[in-house]
Amino acid sequence: MTASALVLLYCALVLFSGLFEAFGRDGIVTTPPRGWNSYDSFSWIVDEEAFLDNANFVSSRLLDFGYEYVVIDFLWYRKNVKGSSLDSYGYDNLDDWGRLVPDPDRWPSSRNGTGFKQIAQKVHDMGLKFGIHVMRGISLEAVNGNKPILDVTTGLPYVEGGRKWQAGDIGMRDMPCAWMQNGFMSVNTDLGAGLAFLRSLYEQYAEWDVDFVKLDCVFGDDLDKDEIIVVSQILEELDRPVLLSLSPGTSVTPYMADPISDYVDMYRITADDWDTWNDVVAHFDVARDFAAAKKIGANGLHGKSWPDLDMLPLGWLTDPGVQQGPHRKCNLNLDEQKTQLTLWSMAKSPLMFGGDLRNIDDTTLNLITNPTLLEINSYSENNMEFPLVFTGNLHRKIDHVSTWSPLWSRKHIDAHEKLVLELTGCFNEKSKGWSIPTDDQDFNQICWNYTSKNIRIGSSCLHKRIPLLTSDEEVIYKQKYEGKFQLLATRSMDACLEPSARRKLTASERLSAFFSTCKWNAIQMWSLNDDGALINSYSGLCATMASPRDTVNSGGARAWVATGRRGEVYLSFFNLNPVNTSISATIGDLAKLLDRKFFASSSCRCYEVWTGNELGVVQGTLSMMVASHGAALFVLNCNI
Ligand SMILES: *[C@@H]1O[C@H](CO)[C@@H](O)[C@H](O)[C@H]1NC(C)=O
Ligand SMILES: *[C@@H]1O[C@H](CO)[C@@H](O)[C@H](O)[C@H]1NC(C)=O
Ligand SMILES: *[C@@H]1O[C@H](CO)[C@@H](O)[C@H](O)[C@H]1NC(C)=O
Repeated sequence: MTASALVLLYCALVLFSGLFEAFGRDGIVTTPPRGWNSYDSFSWIVDEEAFLDNANFVSSRLLDFGYEYVVIDFLWYRKNVKGSSLDSYGYDNLDDWGRLVPDPDRWPSSRNGTGFKQIAQKVHDMGLKFGIHVMRGISLEAVNGNKPILDVTTGLPYVEGGRKWQAGDIGMRDMPCAWMQNGFMSVNTDLGAGLAFLRSLYEQYAEWDVDFVKLDCVFGDDLDKDEIIVVSQILEELDRPVLLSLSPGTSVTPYMADPISDYVDMYRITADDWDTWNDVVAHFDVARDFAAAKKIGANGLHGKSWPDLDMLPLGWLTDPGVQQGPHRKCNLNLDEQKTQLTLWSMAKSPLMFGGDLRNIDDTTLNLITNPTLLEINSYSENNMEFPLVFTGNLHRKIDHVSTWSPLWSRKHIDAHEKLVLELTGCFNEKSKGWSIPTDDQDFNQICWNYTSKNIRIGSSCLHKRIPLLTSDEEVIYKQKYEGKFQLLATRSMDACLEPSARRKLTASERLSAFFSTCKWNAIQMWSLNDDGALINSYSGLCATMASPRDTVNSGGARAWVATGRRGEVYLSFFNLNPVNTSISATIGDLAKLLDRKFFASSSCRCYEVWTGNELGVVQGTLSMMVASHGAALFVLNCNI
């Protein structure tokens, strides 16, 4: 390279970085996204007026605290009329290309044919960013109607190999969204027409000036890795940043997130969170696992990516699954709400408020705008669970983790042990424990050997279903799924192992829905590979059996640590017990876990956020009586 070329390159870089600055923070995700989402307060029936009222509140009262995305959650295309519901068929508004358009009765500004564009303009004028929820693949209505597919490069029907392609060619009927089977199914991304269809969707959202899409029914139990990656690539080619958020994250593990986290901006790691204490508790283990796997702030589509613990169902809400707007107060007590916000902040989850802001109360508003929590949420580092806490009543055996024990035989297994079925990536060593018993020549059973300290102490067996082959349908599917099989809990029971739930689950329900009526569907098809991994044909995920007891922390006390921008250390205590509990940790243990640079001395000046108490200088052990289900949050300065 010549000297003048170098100078030119240098100038180009300076110019580029200048532009980059001028763009501001737009398009670069360096902190967990923050905003408001309509689901917890409206289910799916939100309309233009209510949405814009909420957006106005975000703009005037929350934007200064970093809440900038306002997101319309699911079914904005569905008519809210008698007969329509969560999984009804035939009530959606579609355009000529099989794409969904806003329901004109709920979104009057869409009547002039410009979709959400006018709403996006209003949202942008408020200084906010505009998001919408979208579903897996293509709608059943578009497939049944065999709509033509738009080629966005020509504006004409998509043609390849001398023929026009239609929705019926790309919809995969045996890959429906498990919890909305009448709504949506995967598209075949191996086909040019499948890719063209997905491109036509996201080009349209970009035309509407959408800044954020929450893509649903492609992750967790419903994993469709191909669609996630294709959508991510389409978004990357757009001329402006559109953030990609995945939902829900039922049974997600870090292994499952590994292949996709680079392609998205945020992704749910739990089932739906609602305002029950069990739902709050259900987030502790998974948040810990993602922190330990270094997934918080790992690479993402537009910068960093964020494991998402779900919206905050606080304030004025609706109920899950209903067709009703906000009508009730949050069921969590104030201690439980503080616990939720403290965990969400310490784990750097995106904060998407879910309550109806037209009716927000001061207590809730103060919670979600607490400056210390927001500082931690945006800027802290080294976020992780801190295991070395102890309680005043360690001898109490607390069992808060909701467990589900398989229906099948567990003889020889310690009565206190409960095994739970989990899904994980097939490359996870933990998935490789399935085998056919040696005396089972005909392969009628497949068993999981349960070991303790490497000694086999029992096994849980599933039975292979023998298809009756009485209908043509069964014969066709038997050919299609050659080498694959369905699995029954017991020989006599016609219920098949199906890891995907038929409805949206809440976080604490996630372990309860594993057997359903047998039916010919990829969701119920399994194969066993040579490594002993049991692979599900629908999601490509593998089944594993885990003991939830491993994850129960003694004494019901949990703690997290993080470090701040100014050398401070954050320590939170969580009391999951049904009684007030004294929780303690030592400064020495904290110093061992975190970088020494945060501990110039062994005494720390200490402030507790929720009580607002300056605790003075603490040496040795930090202890606090924490209310049942409550949290304490300490800001420590140990460089004194
Ligand atoms: C629809 O509304 C948008 C936004 O106000 C406007 O720019 C556009 O001209 C309108 N289109 C038609 C067809 O009326
Ligand atoms: C599980 O145990 C059975 C019975 O001892 C044995 O035949 C089988 O090989 C074991 N499978 C694995 C994967 O260790
Ligand atoms: C537990 O702590 C709370 C809040 O600190 C307090 O109001 C309550 O009286 C305590 N309960 C018991 C049984 O000590």
